[in-house]
Amino acid sequence: MLITDQTSRRRIPTTADMVSRMCGIAASVLKNGDVGPVLFDCLKKLEYRGYDSVGEASIIDGKIIVKKDKGKISEVERELHISDLRGNVGIGHTRWATHGAPSRENAHPHTDCTDTVAVVHNGIVENFMQLKQELEAKGHKFKSRTDTEVVAHLVEENLRNGRSFAEAVRLAANKLTGAYALAFICTSEPDKVVCVRKESPLVIGTAANGNFCASDIPAFLSRTNQAILLEDNEMAILTADQVRIVQIETGEAVNRKPFTVEWSIETALKTGFPHFMLKEIHEQPMTVRNALRTHPIYMDLMASAINKAKKVFLVACGTSYHACLGGAYAFSNLAKAEVTPVVASEFIDGHGALVDGDTVVLVVSQSGETADTLSAVRGAKDRGATILGISNTMGSTLTRLSDVYIGQNSGPEMGVAATKTFTAQLSVLIKLAVVLARKREFLRKSELETIEAGFQQLPNWISTVLSTQQDSVRRIVERYSDRSSLCFLGRGMSVATALEGRLKLLELSYLPAIAYPAGESKHGFISVVEEGYPVIFVAPRDESYSKIIGNVMEMKARGAKIISIVDEKDGEVARLSDDVIVVPPGVPSMLTPIVFVLPLQLFAYYMSVGKGYDPDFPRNLAKSVTVH
Ligand code: G6P
Repeated sequence: MLITDQTSRRRIPTTADMVSRMCGIAASVLKNGDVGPVLFDCLKKLEYRGYDSVGEASIIDGKIIVKKDKGKISEVERELHISDLRGNVGIGHTRWATHGAPSRENAHPHTDCTDTVAVVHNGIVENFMQLKQELEAKGHKFKSRTDTEVVAHLVEENLRNGRSFAEAVRLAANKLTGAYALAFICTSEPDKVVCVRKESPLVIGTAANGNFCASDIPAFLSRTNQAILLEDNEMAILTADQVRIVQIETGEAVNRKPFTVEWSIETALKTGFPHFMLKEIHEQPMTVRNALRTHPIYMDLMASAINKAKKVFLVACGTSYHACLGGAYAFSNLAKAEVTPVVASEFIDGHGALVDGDTVVLVVSQSGETADTLSAVRGAKDRGATILGISNTMGSTLTRLSDVYIGQNSGPEMGVAATKTFTAQLSVLIKLAVVLARKREFLRKSELETIEAGFQQLPNWISTVLSTQQDSVRRIVERYSDRSSLCFLGRGMSVATALEGRLKLLELSYLPAIAYPAGESKHGFISVVEEGYPVIFVAPRDESYSKIIGNVMEMKARGAKIISIVDEKDGEVARLSDDVIVVPPGVPSMLTPIVFVLPLQLFAYYMSVGKGYDPDFPRNLAKSVTVH
């Protein structure tokens, strides 16, 4: 699939061509029996991750046999009989993040020029373009548009230079930047699977009849409950009766014993968390990192389109709209760009008359299928606007209708209430604002450096909040669980955070919660406040800080109970509060929603659980609302 840059009609590969980030990997080496049915079963267990193509490869009579195609596992099975694959060594894959017309060529496994090596991949090879050029210059011929195929050719090069299979993989992995879990088979050592891990998940299973590796434990849990977690920058060499782990960089051996998995398949799907929502909240260090990895080419295309446009709108529904509010704030403050955020259902009626060929509509939708959002897109397209899309679902209608789109790469979100997709959308939008600011030369070097360093730090800040504040949020929720309403207040960038905190609570605990820009709270909301009414302040130490102190005092003077989310070094707001949740200090103002929203997600989660509701399936709500 190719997208076209509107201005130059230049054809460039889409993100979807290059990456397959949330894919599922499974591989197996058996003492007895064929891998076909085993891998088929493993891939079925990975189906929940979402996918649109399937493939398996094994070695039969010294040759690599690949069966792969687009479609669901059952469809590909009907067509290619993947479960009949013979051979006792094999790899399998479910590919996600492809375009609406995924192809056989882009499905995994991928092979090298000589069909000596086959590989499956979950992740992104960031430097694949450069590696591909180098390999093409050496005569390598590519069959797909994926980043993954580069890895097969790199291993081929190393094998040609006399390296063993494992060493060829190790040297290849050392050349890759980005995130990857990879599994390989090779005809020159047909008794092995070699797998490597950097940032994408990979787990090993050990059983009496052989060994496995997979993207997660459910893949092999029906065959063994003995698992070894591969750490980042490690690789494993699996034979039917041995698992050897080494460091990718040095080749040094690592000694690690299997542990017994006590989970049922159901719990394993949630990686031990009681609900998908909590699991997804905890995935945010990774999903924010993934979102920030968006290839610069697409950021640049979008920023150029916004830069040239006379009018720019940010359009979405629900949580995605709250991400747009934060995004608009960042566009204005970083890049001095006027970007108007509008709820999708109001867009054409309220702004349609302004939309023309000089308009850019930047549309954000996790599912890419929300009916109101798509109506706005179609209405804008009819009026000649350029559509830029940010979505978590490659191949969705939004990505098909967009002139340029970016995948936020959060992986499937099972909880109906959006969590990880919100912080990922914000990450993409803020990064886009930074790219535009650079283009317009509006940001001072020091400001740029602070934000860039902040992007790097985000995963750590998120991990810190989740690991240190979860229990205190739970305790605070217990104290306020009998209240019939709560209010969320914030200023500046934190208005988006407060609104999203309110939406989460509303969705999951059915409380008629309120949210306001803190400064506006005295124009109405303040009449509700009485002794003991809980008000949650989102209060980072940014440019709004001194004013929010005044707002806290206004509420306190009327008897409100103050719950504040502040940074660790806070003095004044924390002192005025009844309950305090702390986040690490130093988060740049523009990035605060990505960190400060985490306690609010947890707050809504624990309130819902405390009331005996199911936070994964709140009543009356749908993950994707496809009606107007
Ligand atoms: C529904 C979901 C929300 C989501 C909204 C927009 O209301 O329950 O979680 O934020 O739709 O969905 P989208 O897929 O367009 O981001």
